[in-house]
Amino acid sequence: MKRVAILISGGGSNMVALAESMAGDHPARPVLVLSNVPGAGGLAKAEGMGIPTALVDHRPFGKDRAAFEAALQAELDRAAPDILCLAGFMRVLTEGFVTGWAGRMLNIHPSLLPKYRGLDTHARAIAAGDTQAGCSVHEVTAELDGGPILGQARVPVLPGDTPETLAARVLTMEHRLYPAVLHRFAMGDRRPVMLP
Ligand code: GAR
Repeated sequence: MKRVAILISGGGSNMVALAESMAGDHPARPVLVLSNVPGAGGLAKAEGMGIPTALVDHRPFGKDRAAFEAALQAELDRAAPDILCLAGFMRVLTEGFVTGWAGRMLNIHPSLLPKYRGLDTHARAIAAGDTQAGCSVHEVTAELDGGPILGQARVPVLPGDTPETLAARVLTMEHRLYPAVLHRFAMGDRRPVMLP
């Protein structure tokens, strides 16, 4: 069994989708949900699912990202995961941390990468007049939202869409895409998953 730690900052709906998928003959199991935000909704959800949780609040570390990441790493060392899944984890990780997890860390991003790295992806897709939007799961490298793509899912951008309505449509696909990619990745298969 592969051991999976899921890093979150918010509501954790992708975390729930991932955790629920790791059952039965799935080759992985969730061993830790780690948040950098006290009170993040996903922490209570993980506790409700019986998954160990940890909190490493980034704020006391100020600008000292290396110290924050050392605290993250200490929690990860305790749980000994094989794979890290970033699922709405809203801190940029340093090259040193990323290098230590090279080939073992995944992220979901709410755009069709390489389009719209960074924030406000849905507003940018609407402003550009895109007719399609979506989400991507990629390996994490030191380049922000830039690692090899392991899966993508597309949705239409509809007339009258706001960033919120488009985000909700994309999020339902995130919940299908991320578990599909993790399943394949945990089997050692890095061919991209393309949905629908
Ligand atoms: C998701 O839409 C995810 O793609 C996005 O945050 C949301 C988290 O929702 N991630 C990023 O924007 C990363 N830069 P969740 O907490 O309900 O899974």
